[in-house]
Amino acid sequence: MKVLVIGGGAREHALCRSLSLDPDVNALYCAPGNAGISEVAELRPVDALDGDAVARLAVELGAELVVVGPEAPLVAGVGDAVRASGIPVFGPSADAARLEGSKAFAKDVMAAAGVPTARSYVCTTPEEVDAALDAFGAPYVVKDDGLAAGKGVVVTDDLAAARAHALACDRVVIEEFLDGPEVSLFAITDGVTVLPLQPAQDFKRALDGDEGPNTGGMGAYSPLPWADPKLVDEVMASVLQPTVDELRRRDTPFSGLLYAGLAITSRGVRVIEFNARFGDPETQVVLARLRTPLASVLLNAARGTLDTEPPLAWHDDAAVTVVIASHNYPETPRTGDPIEGLADVAAQDAPHAYVLHAGTRLAGDSVVSAGGRVLSVTATGSDLAQARERAYKAVARIRLDGSQHRTDIAAKAAEGR
Ligand code: AMP
Ligand code: GLY
Repeated sequence: MKVLVIGGGAREHALCRSLSLDPDVNALYCAPGNAGISEVAELRPVDALDGDAVARLAVELGAELVVVGPEAPLVAGVGDAVRASGIPVFGPSADAARLEGSKAFAKDVMAAAGVPTARSYVCTTPEEVDAALDAFGAPYVVKDDGLAAGKGVVVTDDLAAARAHALACDRVVIEEFLDGPEVSLFAITDGVTVLPLQPAQDFKRALDGDEGPNTGGMGAYSPLPWADPKLVDEVMASVLQPTVDELRRRDTPFSGLLYAGLAITSRGVRVIEFNARFGDPETQVVLARLRTPLASVLLNAARGTLDTEPPLAWHDDAAVTVVIASHNYPETPRTGDPIEGLADVAAQDAPHAYVLHAGTRLAGDSVVSAGGRVLSVTATGSDLAQARERAYKAVARIRLDGSQHRTDIAAKAAEGR
């Protein structure tokens, strides 16, 4: 099978790595990709937001499956453009990707499907904003309705800050605060059949101890030894299947990856948000544990024949990923710094630990930073403690001037807390 992956972050590197290990895949392309992905896939330049350009590239390459990684192209309808050229696409239509692209739409779908989530108001005027903030009280949760690359959500005890964020958005969702640990559960679906993956946990704050600003994610681990073993079945029944059924009922069937961001509250599981694509950095740890070859699962989802797939098979191993971010991430990340030590990890830590590239590019013969999150150092082990140890050993070999990483990824879970 010839596969083209659209995107160029650590998630796409993880997808390309798994696809490159799949014996069914005989040609693998990534557009635009990054320096690390070039080791497992052939890179092609493309504007990932330009549906016609992506469709032309897919036709030119003779791709038999196109996997669209990031949310922005999905919301922009890149999947629709490629499908219109007759090539199967893993990734939802623009209409279905509104589940991620509009928080208000997601709330409406959840209400119709009876999916448990935070109570909320959609507000467009200062009067509505004040009434909603007053109704829920602190901590205030204020969400920009549209896509905001992880920067649209403010959770604060400060009424003035909550109000200021709300008034800066055209349309805003104000909701009840959910306490309890967060879990990310992904499912692959063709719009009818839903195959859940294994749960993972992401670390959103920049600094150890969950301090500092929100980021795109500083690390992740899977499995979750503290979680109820029935969690996946419960979320399948109360969240994933009803959401897929509701979108089909609306004639906007969702095929691709449905990402449920969940809070495990004292009153039960609640959806914090949906995403319409694999999450980053959770994908890095979930795919590290997936035993089933990926290509045929994605193709069956793209073709509407997911009911022919057996349940997914998993390694017993645990996986941990630690993100190495640029100087000044997430505010104004510095880029263009050389990265050293990649070959040392490949020589000394493989196959248990390896480096997935997020924001990198080739400058001559060297690899330099090209984004806020630069690398996602991933390791597997017989348990979280071993995976953690291997990941941090590899992190220590990487040299990137001014870089930062959290030192406590999966620490509590590894200690059984
Ligand atoms: P989102 O973009 O909706 O995932 O929100 C980003 C982060 O804000 C989430 O991962 C949570 O940590 C936090 N958050 C969002 N909604 C809530 C809520 N209702 N209660 C508490 N925290 C929330
Ligand atoms: N891990 C958070 C996200 O992908 O949105």
